[in-house]
Amino acid sequence: ISALRAALQPYRGQKNENQSSQPRIALVPTMGNLHDGHLKLVKIAKQHADIVVVSIFVNPTQFGEGEDFESYPRTLDEDVAKLATVDTDYVFAPSIDEMYPVLPPPTSVLAGAITTQLCGQSRPGHFDGVGIVVSKLFNIVQPDIAVFGQKDYQQLAIIKQLVRDLSYPIDIIGASIVRAVDGLALSSRNQYLSTAERQIAPVLHQALQYLAERLETGEQSPQVVQSFLIETQLRITDAGFTIDYLEIKTDTLDSVVSETDMFNVENKNLIILVAAWLGRARLLDNQLVIIG
Ligand code: PAJ
Repeated sequence: ISALRAALQPYRGQKNENQSSQPRIALVPTMGNLHDGHLKLVKIAKQHADIVVVSIFVNPTQFGEGEDFESYPRTLDEDVAKLATVDTDYVFAPSIDEMYPVLPPPTSVLAGAITTQLCGQSRPGHFDGVGIVVSKLFNIVQPDIAVFGQKDYQQLAIIKQLVRDLSYPIDIIGASIVRAVDGLALSSRNQYLSTAERQIAPVLHQALQYLAERLETGEQSPQVVQSFLIETQLRITDAGFTIDYLEIKTDTLDSVVSETDMFNVENKNLIILVAAWLGRARLLDNQLVIIG
């Protein structure tokens, strides 16, 4: 932490001779095992800032009991080599002891109601762990901007709320989902899939696209929406997934109060969110629905 702070100090608080304004610092938080989705975040960060810091830290406080904290892939050398190809300025890869002198930390960062739905429901405490580690990273790096992926849509919404409520002077940028050619959203957890499962996996994205297209055709009765939802669920489960949740929300993650209201509201953007197990892998995906 002190080494990173010392490295970033020269960029702060004074105008650089060659630059009209103070250099901007961007942070891209990750847990490593980097793929093209992460590298896209770094490229976006570089477009918005002069100095890009990527953090690599498999954060123990966001993993629940029985989850994959121990087995989560740790590939620091490969990660650093990949980051060098996209002009990363600093990699911050702290130890657990340095991040958490006391574990679990007695101080908490709780984001309230938004954390109890969707992923928060099946992973209790997960977003509390994300909240504290991202707060710490913001305090350590003190970036001007931070980039997060829309693949973890609920996480991005929670981070925006955190920045608003704790007055962090940080612009949050959401980056669209990077997918494999067959449509599967890239994820470090995809490597838990067997060869056969990997071939099935794109069904998740295809099913969400199907549902979004049905909803985009316009005003629908609650019964029709319900039947589309059931059809989509079947497409996913028939392929071999076990669904954790499949939900339609407004793009701000407010619940869709009544299904009657839902499709009468013009220009209201909706999002379909899914989490589903395929073998050992819990896959996440989401799809925006633009109505009107
Ligand atoms: P991790 O899963 O490593 O993801 C780091 C960042 O990469 C997140 O913002 C995530 O949304 C983004 N990302 C992952 N796959 C992506 C894809 N296919 N397309 C676009 N963006 C993608 O999310 C975390 O780590 C942690 O919770 C963290 C925020 C680092 C806190 O520990």
